Amino acid sequence: MRLFTAIDLPSGILFRLERLISALRPEALIKWSPIDNLHVTIKFIGEWPEARLEELAEKLASLLPREPFELQIRDLGWFPNERNPRVLWAGVQDSGGLLQLARDTEECLEPLGIAREERDFCPHLTLARIKNPVPLRRLRERVREMQPCDLGSFRVSHFTLFRSEPGSNASIYHQLRAYRFQAALAAS
Ligand code: 2AM
Repeated sequence: MRLFTAIDLPSGILFRLERLISALRPEALIKWSPIDNLHVTIKFIGEWPEARLEELAEKLASLLPREPFELQIRDLGWFPNERNPRVLWAGVQDSGGLLQLARDTEECLEPLGIAREERDFCPHLTLARIKNPVPLRRLRERVREMQPCDLGSFRVSHFTLFRSEPGSNASIYHQLRAYRFQAALAAS
């Protein structure tokens, strides 16, 4: 199983991202992310044996409880750069809670033999992937015109373990577990 943990997005933010992608899509023939696939990756785990799923799921539960935090989705950019891009992204502004969760995740998974990410944590939403050389002038211009852009803020109170499966067009992501930061208060 190919696994990763991520923050999924509330419907209000998804609605704005859908409108943004609809506005940009006509500008370049690249692989736009399906709206249902948009997420902020916390940790890419990679291949993991299905027989050891429970062990992994329990380890992730040790990240709880924790305090909810705010994220803002803002501005657009390119990986690795605007000249030779492979990814068009929307930025994720974190006040510290997401970085801490990413660090704690690395630390808690390392004893299972899951290697730490060597690159700095750079939270983002992948809006499109550029696989082949295609004209990007119009898209670059539109992206520049749209900056700066505020795509909304939300409070993060859970993260999700996802399984990624190859699809005919884009990967298909299945939610395996949701990890709520704080236990719901029992009704009294
Ligand atoms: P991306 O959106 O920046 O490509 C599921 O594939 C998620 O894990 C995606 O969000 C993807 O990030 C990330 N991912 C895929 N392969 C990866 C890798 N080899 N290293 C780090 N992250 C990866």
